[in-house]
Amino acid sequence: MKRLAVFASGSGSNFQAIVENAVNYQVVLLVCDKIDAFVIKRAHELAIPTLIINPKDYQSKVQYEEVILNSLKEHQVEFIALAGYMRLIGSVLLTAFKDKIINIHPSLLPAFKGKNAIEQVINAGVLETGVTIHFVDSGIDTGEIIAQDIIKINEKMSKNEIEEKIHLVEHRLYPKILNQLLEEDLK
Ligand code: GRF
Repeated sequence: MKRLAVFASGSGSNFQAIVENAVNYQVVLLVCDKIDAFVIKRAHELAIPTLIINPKDYQSKVQYEEVILNSLKEHQVEFIALAGYMRLIGSVLLTAFKDKIINIHPSLLPAFKGKNAIEQVINAGVLETGVTIHFVDSGIDTGEIIAQDIIKINEKMSKNEIEEKIHLVEHRLYPKILNQLLEEDLK
């Protein structure tokens, strides 16, 4: 069973889906960079250990990530899933976890990279969007794509309605891909 850490900054609905649907992995740590994020409450309820860390307490990203890395080592973490973690991964973690960090993004990459992807989708007036799971590299949503799912939308849908549809797909797709990836990793 692979030992997984999830990084999140917000509500954490994906974190919860990842925890609840674990088969070939075990979530051993939540890393959260926002002290008041709702995901922390979810972690407590699910009895998952947390590292709550404020980047403003550190002089550099290197120092900040070294503290995270120490905690990942303590918990013997082997793989990282980003789930609404609103920060670029830096050199310390990219080097220590080469090809072992994945992310979920609410668009069909390479379209609509970066922040506010759903607003970007709405402003572009497209009728098809989706969800992408990809490996993390030093760019913003640029790493190799692992899986995508398409979602049909229409111009009458509100941002909330689109978001809800995206979340439903994410909560199914993310644990499924993690279970597949981490099973293959065992072979
Ligand atoms: C998800 O839509 C994910 O694609 C994006 O951030 C959102 C996080 O939602 N990266 P939640 O915190 O998991 O509810």
